[in-house]
Amino acid sequence: MEEMQNSQDFIVVGAGIIGAMIAYRLVTHGYSVMLVDQGPPGGQASRAAAGILSPTAEAGSSVPFFDLLQASFLRYPALIEEIEEASQMHVDLHQTGVIQAALDDVEANRLHELYRWQKTKVAVEWVTSAQLKDLEPDMQHAVGALYAPHEMQVHGPKLVQALVRAGNHAGMVSRFGVMVQRFLTSKSGDVLGIETTKGQYRAQKAVIVAAGSWAQSILATLDEVRALPVKPIRGQILALTSDEVPIRHIVFAHHRYVVPKPDGRLILGATEDDAGFDDRVTADGVAQLAQSFHYFGPRVPQMHWQAIWAGLRPMAPDGLPILGPWPGRQGLYVAAGHYRNGVLLSAITGDLVLNWAQNGTLPPSGFLPERFWRS
Ligand code: GLY
Repeated sequence: MEEMQNSQDFIVVGAGIIGAMIAYRLVTHGYSVMLVDQGPPGGQASRAAAGILSPTAEAGSSVPFFDLLQASFLRYPALIEEIEEASQMHVDLHQTGVIQAALDDVEANRLHELYRWQKTKVAVEWVTSAQLKDLEPDMQHAVGALYAPHEMQVHGPKLVQALVRAGNHAGMVSRFGVMVQRFLTSKSGDVLGIETTKGQYRAQKAVIVAAGSWAQSILATLDEVRALPVKPIRGQILALTSDEVPIRHIVFAHHRYVVPKPDGRLILGATEDDAGFDDRVTADGVAQLAQSFHYFGPRVPQMHWQAIWAGLRPMAPDGLPILGPWPGRQGLYVAAGHYRNGVLLSAITGDLVLNWAQNGTLPPSGFLPERFWRS
């Protein structure tokens, strides 16, 4: 039995939202899968995430990136229904709607430019200061806003737990608290599996590295000339409470956001710190977040402090995910660099890996790893 468990079609390294989704999609489509992580599932970036599902707020000015985010967003409702059914867990998917509020004219112009092209793709609205009164009474100091009423949020940590539970029900093998030490390779360099602190595991089809900020060091054990260009960007994020939460929608303002959660908390985030693998909260992080309380009206600064935490987002140099077979190596696939959108992009990432497993289809070329080495 143990010998059978030590050889799977796929080994997925990293049990955050990306790895758990990939493993779930593969195992529910007939592949044997092992999910491996050095810690517990969802122990890093996924644990810290606010769970915002907002292509309109996160795409910036990139239309291809918007299309990827939107393709993932559209998969969410049906996928969550399936996962909740399979896991018998609720993961708090809610259509809260997203408001990007402009607090000055420069921001209003930027957001109106987004509105001009986004409205050709999704049902966004431009909202004046006066119209904000009905939507979000505390945001009348904004000069205008881009409103995406259809956008949603989910509970990222619960979604990871649900994926692992549903994956295990479907026959997935989990190995947590297991560190990858090196890849097993053939003479010609093909990847055949992994050696870990708990033994060797073989992958008949591929090892998929989905280890977020740790993906680079895991790949580096292959002694590649090319390093995976992913680095951690810390996000510090906090939770406030009050008898009546003054904000109803997910609201972005001046690079900060608030997310009203169904349990009554208001999540406010997030910093973007280049601090290596240090995932501790800092005094400066507290100060940066506190300076933004008043962006969200007069009542947020009066709310009660509940908690503050931090997580490490895996960022590529162009801020886009890195998805696809690793160049020059059979049997190795990378799904990393999801940066600010791991939760949102997990749905399309699972599909892209599944398509590759089933028929060799590659992700769009702008997201392939080799984009960093093309001349
Ligand atoms: N998705 C928002 C953030 O990473 O802060």
